[in-house]
Amino acid sequence: MKYSKIIGTGSYLPDKVLTNFDLEKIVDTTNSWIVERTGIRQRHIAAEYETAMIMAEKAAREAMVVADITPDEIGMIIVATTTPEKMFPSTACLLQQRLEIAGCPAFDLNSTACAGFMYAISIADQFIRTGAIKNALVIGSEVMSRIVNWTDRSTCVLFGDGAGAVLLGASHKPGILSTHLHADGTHKDVLSLNHSIGKPMDVEEELFIKMTGSQLFKLAVNILGDLFDETLKANSLQKSDVDWLVPHQANIRIIQAMAKKLDLPLERVAITLEEQGNTSSASIPLALDKAIRDGRIQRGDMLLLEGFGGGLAWGSALIKY
Ligand code: ACO
Repeated sequence: MKYSKIIGTGSYLPDKVLTNFDLEKIVDTTNSWIVERTGIRQRHIAAEYETAMIMAEKAAREAMVVADITPDEIGMIIVATTTPEKMFPSTACLLQQRLEIAGCPAFDLNSTACAGFMYAISIADQFIRTGAIKNALVIGSEVMSRIVNWTDRSTCVLFGDGAGAVLLGASHKPGILSTHLHADGTHKDVLSLNHSIGKPMDVEEELFIKMTGSQLFKLAVNILGDLFDETLKANSLQKSDVDWLVPHQANIRIIQAMAKKLDLPLERVAITLEEQGNTSSASIPLALDKAIRDGRIQRGDMLLLEGFGGGLAWGSALIKY
């Protein structure tokens, strides 16, 4: 049987850092409120020239160095992003041009918000498993700072910018064991960005993220709990078989609840929230890359990745690293 395996990871964070204390000067908030309610202390903010593509390229090149492969060996590029440079050409096509590898399929996933990376890695995994391609570049890249309302304290304190990349390669040894994707449009109003091409845009506010945070919080805890059960059952595994949880970085209290559900100590959870905030579809590959680079995640470890976002959409992957 053919599997896809993680053969390289990379990340990129803009230099500029915005702390909670900086935010105290922008909106009516406090460092202690943000830390207590979310776990976030700071986030990175893109400079004007740093687009989703620019950051994706930097993360991708890092992953290629680790995997020791050249751009021409890449068989597919998927960029998960809610903040593409343009609706089209896709960020993935712009990146493909920079990598000078015209020909392979390249596309963005930009409608699944923070769940985008889980959807992207699942799609790439299917193509590798069937033998259609050998290597796939899967990236999450976001400039969330451009779509948050900087006068809305309930959302602007949450998000940050950055990019994470994963290179998947075909393998006969187990890598990605299974992926699980879901969506439920009945929760469409809990989290949205109403940039509608079909309607005239006369309300400036509509261009920004709108979120009913407390409702989303409860939904996330429930759906992710069920998702863990589904993922483990599909592989006939127990909670104790999971070495690392690599979650979407939305809120430390959600992450704590998920660690508890798996009986995992927080030391076994890849957390970047404190320094990076919620980077939407970039948060999972960023957390993964950090834990791999600093040596916490080791080859052979069993990883459970999970993400959820607007739609609602959510997904998981169980991976033998
Ligand atoms: N500083 C100070 N006070 C604030 C702030 C702030 N930054 N933001 C909100 N408040 C106030 C509210 O106005 C409210 O005041 P009130 O009681 O006087 O009305 C009070 O704090 C409590 O507000 P809640 O929204 O009930 O606070 P909660 O404990 O739910 O925390 C939070 C809010 C952090 C947003 C939380 O609900 C959360 O993390 N939800 C999940 C978000 C999430 O998962 N996002 C991921 C998806 S993002 C994506 O897919 C793109």
